[in-house]
Amino acid sequence: MEIIRNRQGNTFHLCNDEISYIMTVLPNGQMGQLYFGKRIREREDYSHLLETASRPMSSCVFDTDKKFSMEHIKQEYAVFGTTDYRTPAVEVIQKNGSRLSEFCFQNYRIESGKPGLPGLPAVYTEADSEAETLVIELMDKTTGLQAELLYTIFEKGGIIARSARFLNKGTEDLFLGSAMSLCMDLPDCEYEWIQFSGAWARERYPKVRRLEQGIQSVGSMRGNSSHNHNPFVILKRPSADEFQGEAIGFSLIYSGNFLAQAEVDAYHTTRVLLGIHPAGFQWKLEPEESFQTPEAVMVYTDQGLNHLSQTYHKLYQKRLARGYWRDRTRPILINNWEATYFNFTEEKLIEIAKKAKSCGVEMFVLDDGWFGARSLERAGLGDWTANPDRLPNGITGLAEKIEDLGMKFGLWFEPEMVNPDSDLYRQHPDWIIAAPDRKPSHGRFQYVLDFSRKEAVDHIYEMMAKILSEAKVSYIKWDMNRSITECYSGALPADRQGEVYHRYILGVYDLYERLTSRFPHVLFESCASGGGRFDPGMLYYAPQAWTSDDTDAVERLKIQFGTSYCYPVSSMGSHVSVTPNHQLNRNTPLRTRANTAYFGTFGYELDLNVLTEEEQEEVKVQTAFMKEYRNLIQFGTFYRLKSPFEGNITAWMAVSEDQTEAIVGWYRVLNGVNMPYTRLRLEGLDPERSYHVWTAGTDKKEASKESVHYGDELMNLGLITTDASCGEDVDRVCCDFNSRLYLLKA
Ligand code: DGJ
Repeated sequence: MEIIRNRQGNTFHLCNDEISYIMTVLPNGQMGQLYFGKRIREREDYSHLLETASRPMSSCVFDTDKKFSMEHIKQEYAVFGTTDYRTPAVEVIQKNGSRLSEFCFQNYRIESGKPGLPGLPAVYTEADSEAETLVIELMDKTTGLQAELLYTIFEKGGIIARSARFLNKGTEDLFLGSAMSLCMDLPDCEYEWIQFSGAWARERYPKVRRLEQGIQSVGSMRGNSSHNHNPFVILKRPSADEFQGEAIGFSLIYSGNFLAQAEVDAYHTTRVLLGIHPAGFQWKLEPEESFQTPEAVMVYTDQGLNHLSQTYHKLYQKRLARGYWRDRTRPILINNWEATYFNFTEEKLIEIAKKAKSCGVEMFVLDDGWFGARSLERAGLGDWTANPDRLPNGITGLAEKIEDLGMKFGLWFEPEMVNPDSDLYRQHPDWIIAAPDRKPSHGRFQYVLDFSRKEAVDHIYEMMAKILSEAKVSYIKWDMNRSITECYSGALPADRQGEVYHRYILGVYDLYERLTSRFPHVLFESCASGGGRFDPGMLYYAPQAWTSDDTDAVERLKIQFGTSYCYPVSSMGSHVSVTPNHQLNRNTPLRTRANTAYFGTFGYELDLNVLTEEEQEEVKVQTAFMKEYRNLIQFGTFYRLKSPFEGNITAWMAVSEDQTEAIVGWYRVLNGVNMPYTRLRLEGLDPERSYHVWTAGTDKKEASKESVHYGDELMNLGLITTDASCGEDVDRVCCDFNSRLYLLKA
């Protein structure tokens, strides 16, 4: 890997074996984008790649030149209000009201490895040799505002991590009206835009549409990254699919308001912007003050969407997630939420835990309702001490009892929230996000604590740290159940109110950082009413997230499939729950619920005592199975094979790094009669090896005998998946919501 500055001293070529990223200083001093894509050869000069055009109705930079207009130039970090009429990456507001700026090249430096971003989550290196970072220093002379553009290229993979930081070197106060993490001008618009959107209980469905002249965007202005849209989009060539073709991913490592936008201009160039949503954002920079944007990660591939996803999986699993749990398989847990909701006693919890233990479950997690006056939604949030009526022995006593059973103990918190009916709110009514002259709206009868106030974060930290240091707590589920409204902080002056959303999320990150570093062995799972904050920012602190409140196996196929475009299997919280399912009222076989939940962190969200003895025996087999295969599933290479959005069958698989083991999940939503023959082409195997193939997680009567197949056969001809539904199902084994796991061993 090398970062090359060419002889003219104004062009930078970042490259590794897979990609090239080339940029240049333009004649007016601003930075121009020349190329991002598959690796091309190093040349002395790339100036021929710079296209300028004399076009009617253009505004031009140089007095004697009709061709040099920023409107027609592909740029690295576009500004507002000069000759470019597209959406800018940055807007600077001066004291005199001007919103113009012109950031020109001043200097550059190359750092080995990758610098961290203060107070913000970011990808990292473990050795300096893993990556190099190019820092381009720009200056807006009129205001004295310095901008640094950071580009990290890794030794391996089509990855470029980008961010921008600003330092006011002038003498007057300035305001950033927007400051995107990434601006990427692509030379054409022959792309399909894929966003990952939905709502509560149906998060991250991929939605595809062709780019057209104009703007297409997704974003969040809710204060959290949201259920509705994810801070991740893909541009893919129309001919690209899961297995081949060109695509670029754009992912923002951030958990607050965001905007992801593609703007196609009249000449069919495409500008991608990704960063903090400019709506409601304004950041004051007094002289010598600085601002760092969150980090954006671009991934280029010419080998299809599975390859793009695998690059993100590996990066986010190994160089975004941190700490003790990063490389460890996750404990099989049981969570009492769907088993009891708020209605529990210590005895009841122990009963649930005991049964779970006897079925092979490793950890018991106590969800909402254990603290303060929290016997329903209306009270208690903010009072993080155990409710003695429900838990006479406190959290310490309960945790001990769970540990005595031979299980680990986990606990639910919702640290960012407060109910009006709580001691915390009665003591500090000014600690909520609310405007002084307007009525605050509630969500689930709760207010959002103003985490831009250090004293509020400190207070919550003390309460949580006390419990964690007194009781044997091995896991925390960190929930967040409402979005921000009336965004205003009583602690900030009028001209800093545009900072509240971002300062809030910095406060969340600060609390996470303090707790994870003081309690490094505690496993954190983030959650926001299910998947309302499933983003890379959270993964930096919590290596897993509750994927969705929807635990129905069929719905989960879609949610987990969509989530897998960016996020690794090891990050997806997934549990088996009761039937009829609490969200869908649907009945699915127990094996299908497990076969879906295996492709995640795996656990149970029910009281196993309510299952029949036969079902409990099945659960024992499931937990034993997951213990044997979780390393392969959670850390193997994941392939999407068949999409639940395209047909009745869903399939995916995980392959071990050495290609000696694989496991295929096959799911059929509705049964059919006298069905056609079916085969499933597998991926990622060694074509030369022979594999023993057998089924598990299957109706016993349906279980096939072991057979032997070569990798090339399985990947080209496919695995035969035809079953009894193809003829007369005399054994009555096929049903709706059927599923199978195929195990492969070389
Ligand atoms: C929302 C979460 O997604 C659920 O799993 C559960 O923890 C509830 N909150 C508790 O209030």
